[in-house]
Amino acid sequence: MSVLKVVAISGSLRAKSYNHAALRAAAELAPDDLEIRIVDYAAVPLYNQDDQAKGFPGSVEALRAEIAGADGLLIASPEYNFSVSGVLKNAIDWLSRTNPQPFKGKPTAILSATMGPIGGARSQYDLRKIIGGIEANVLTKPEVFIGACHTKFNEQGQLTDEATRKIIGEQMLAFRNWIRQLGPRS
Ligand SMILES: Cc1cc2nc3c(=O)[nH]c(=O)nc-3n(C[C@H](O)[C@H](O)[C@H](O)COP(=O)(O)O)c2cc1C
Repeated sequence: MSVLKVVAISGSLRAKSYNHAALRAAAELAPDDLEIRIVDYAAVPLYNQDDQAKGFPGSVEALRAEIAGADGLLIASPEYNFSVSGVLKNAIDWLSRTNPQPFKGKPTAILSATMGPIGGARSQYDLRKIIGGIEANVLTKPEVFIGACHTKFNEQGQLTDEATRKIIGEQMLAFRNWIRQLGPRS
C-alpha cells in the first residue's frame, strides 16, 4: 500500500517546544503507512498586505507548496492567551491569500499541548474555526488535548505519558483511515 505523506507544523517556534515534541511523538506513533514530516516556517515574515502586493515571500511559497503537495496536514499549537499562537495565525493568514490556497479540502488533524490543565481546548476550537473558514477538512475525533504537558515529556522531549501516547496513536490511526476514505487528492 502507498505511504501517505503528512506535513506537520507547530504553533510554537521555541526550541524545546512541547508541541514540536508532540509532533515528533505523533510521527513515532503513526501507522507505518503514514509518514509525518515536520516543516519549519520560522522565516515567514509578519503579514502585511503591502508586502503581499509586491509578491509572496519565498518562505510563504515554500510552505504553501509543502502543504499543497501533502496528503494531509497535522498542526500542533500551544494556547496563547486563550487562542492560537500569533506565529501560526500569521502563517495561516499568508497562506490564505495564495492561489490556490493549500487548505481547501486538505485533511487536517489538530492537537495541542499546554502547561495549563485543559490542554489548549479553547485554542483548538479557534483553530478549527479559522481553518474551517478556508475550507480545510478537519478531523473531528479523537481530540487530543495534552494538559500539564511539562509532566508528560522527559528532558529529551520524549513523550512518556502512556495515556497520551495511546490517544495520539489512536488519532493518527483515525487520521490515516480518514485520509484513505476521502480518497486521492485532486
Ligand atoms: C504568550 C503566552 C500565552 C500563554 N497563554 C496560555 C493560555 O492561554 N493557556 C494555557 O494553557 N497556557 C498558556 N501559556 C503557556 C503555554 O501553555 C506553555 O508556555 C507551553 O509550553 C507553550 O507551548 P510550547 O512548549 O510548544 O512552546 C502561554 C504562554 C505564552 C508564552
